[in-house]
Amino acid sequence: MNAQNLLLILASIVGTSFAQLKAHGNRLGLQIGAASNGWGDGAQFAIPAYAYRLNTEYNVQVAENECKMTNIRPNQATYDFSDCDRAYNLSRNAGADFRFHAAIWYNDLPTWFTALNAANQRSAIISHITTVMNYYKGKIDVYDIVNEALADAWDSNGGVMWRQEPLYQNNPDFVELSLRTARAVNPSARLFYNDYSNHFSYWGQSRNQLNLIDYLQSRDVPLDGVGFQCHVDVAQPITKQTVIDAFAPYVARGLEVQITELDVACPATCNLNRQAEVYLAFLQACVETPRCTSFVMWGVTDAITWLPTLQPNIFSGTIVNGNYTEKPAYTAMLNYLAGLQSIPARQYNTHAPGAVTNTATSTTSGTVTNSATSTTTATVTNSATGTRKKVQKRSVRKG
Ligand code: G3I
Repeated sequence: MNAQNLLLILASIVGTSFAQLKAHGNRLGLQIGAASNGWGDGAQFAIPAYAYRLNTEYNVQVAENECKMTNIRPNQATYDFSDCDRAYNLSRNAGADFRFHAAIWYNDLPTWFTALNAANQRSAIISHITTVMNYYKGKIDVYDIVNEALADAWDSNGGVMWRQEPLYQNNPDFVELSLRTARAVNPSARLFYNDYSNHFSYWGQSRNQLNLIDYLQSRDVPLDGVGFQCHVDVAQPITKQTVIDAFAPYVARGLEVQITELDVACPATCNLNRQAEVYLAFLQACVETPRCTSFVMWGVTDAITWLPTLQPNIFSGTIVNGNYTEKPAYTAMLNYLAGLQSIPARQYNTHAPGAVTNTATSTTSGTVTNSATSTTTATVTNSATGTRKKVQKRSVRKG
């Protein structure tokens, strides 16, 4: 009996739905996904219920940890993509896309890197991004090139409040350097800056991120989108509109927005209906924002979650219980997607090979045709700059 049949039987036994979020995502042209956790040499992937949820429910996956520098580059001279490849291959074998997380992050720098002087850290940033982007060229479209470079603060005069970590102090232009290096290696890739606390437009951290975007765009630094981590909790006053409002200033700057790490922390006496409302708010906001090109949750099940490291008594944050049964949040999202006949086509910052796209005043020459997906060219007007932008709209890979 093959794994697929086993999964089907398992699904019937535990009375769960089967391949429904994914099926609706593919039908609607919406990426809906989750982070996979390959800790312990991928032991989780061998758990039938885990594999079932991960591989049959989502059309995009991201590795929670396996593609970070500490995993990929155990020492300066060695690149070991085996863990990241395992996560990548798992997603592709499941017919899912895969987003890369994360090339440069102050909180995941190996000790060999932090021991280097500034000049050698600069070289290591360039070599790491160059090697990663070459290795996954033609395999992965979307990359979190830099994660969490900013302080939890805001300068109302428009300055950028940088996270005061050695990564920045040694090379204050490391974000620009990383993005330019990535674009030069793979002009077709879609490059993202990923951060948290940007899901409320009026929060200082979101305004600080917009100041960063303005700074980067003023220097024609290539950037295609911003990742909204969305590590939230049930107490936050989140609605569909607050999320749409949070997306708006980034969209106005010609960027894609992606929900990249959504989890909704809920205390032991969890109000599961409120948790479902919050998940639904993010999904509806993404669906109603054509520039929202991916909706990814940070984990498959409450059985494997980082949340207790953040708040010791918090275990509930995903849409599936620790015993792999579905939570109200799962049902709410499934019913919502099932009720949609169609959604506005997603609008990507897709680049013709060799073209450099300035997202603020993007003019993209040529068309990238991906045999696995149909590609159409459309134009949308960047309301911030009034420029007309060519963007490619792709249907989500079927499968
Ligand atoms: O693999 C080792 C294992 O060999 C060892 O026995 C074990 C105990 O020390 O640690 C294991 O590595 C842990 C890894 O997760 C795998 O589980 C690391 O110590 C631990 O620090 C790491 O935590 C991850 C954290 O990023 C730091 O990389 C979390 O799982 C992951 O959920 C979290 O994800 C981040 C995003 O990348 C960026 N946005 C915030 C988000 C939450 O912090």
